[in-house]
Amino acid sequence: MSIFSKLFGKKEENNNKEERFSMSELNVAVIYYSSTGSNYQLAKWAKEGAEAAGANAKLLKVQELAPMGAIESNPAWKEHYEATKDVQEASMDDLEWADAVIFSMPTRFGNLPSQMKQFLDTTGGLWANGKLVNKVVSGMSSASNAHGGQEATILALYNTMHHWGAIIASPGYSDPVQFAAGGNPYGVSVTVGQDGVMQENVEDAVKHQAKRTVDVATWVKKGQE
Ligand SMILES: Cc1cc2nc3c(=O)[nH]c(=O)nc-3n(C[C@H](O)[C@H](O)[C@H](O)COP(=O)(O)O)c2cc1C
Repeated sequence: MSIFSKLFGKKEENNNKEERFSMSELNVAVIYYSSTGSNYQLAKWAKEGAEAAGANAKLLKVQELAPMGAIESNPAWKEHYEATKDVQEASMDDLEWADAVIFSMPTRFGNLPSQMKQFLDTTGGLWANGKLVNKVVSGMSSASNAHGGQEATILALYNTMHHWGAIIASPGYSDPVQFAAGGNPYGVSVTVGQDGVMQENVEDAVKHQAKRTVDVATWVKKGQE
């Protein structure tokens, strides 16, 4: 038996929703930053995946901090900015509400966009009161190049998650769907061409990551009851 058959040959799914959610339902905040729409799409798929796994999910953006001049200089950025004006902004209340948080953000020189970093830097009050401990989290990213810094960006997010005392539910190679999506074990990532089109089909992998995040959060929550 090959290592992959051993790893993936036998799946024990528990699809009995009643049994999985006999406890109070699980809350997932999908928090994203996107200039031109790719991470918005990843976040929407993650929300769908979390809901399909039985969770309550909210799609939330972080505040745009770039000056309007910069946004207006890029038609795709301006269009996305206008199109998503009505998406709710993530708040500290949302973080407190969430049992699990799925983040999505593009790489900026192999690092977090300042918009996402600024959001994380406002969580000091919750952190100081121990409210972020045991949140189950995972991250996703995108870049223009196949090796343009997606992994480094997700790992940069996870630095902060360690300080939160969060439990990181990275996908690893927990499902074969990961291989078709580029095989980033830290979190799903995608390459986005200059035309804004995603180069890999990552929808199923995003939904798998969302389900896995919900599953781990369910175990953590049940374990505390
Ligand atoms: C300031 C800046 C830095 C960027 N740095 C990188 C980079 O280091 N590597 C890369 O491949 N793409 C880089 N990009 C491209 C973005 O990652 C790409 O536009 C993004 O993934 C698209 O996601 P979005 O549609 O959600 O905004 C950069 C873009 C900007 C504006």
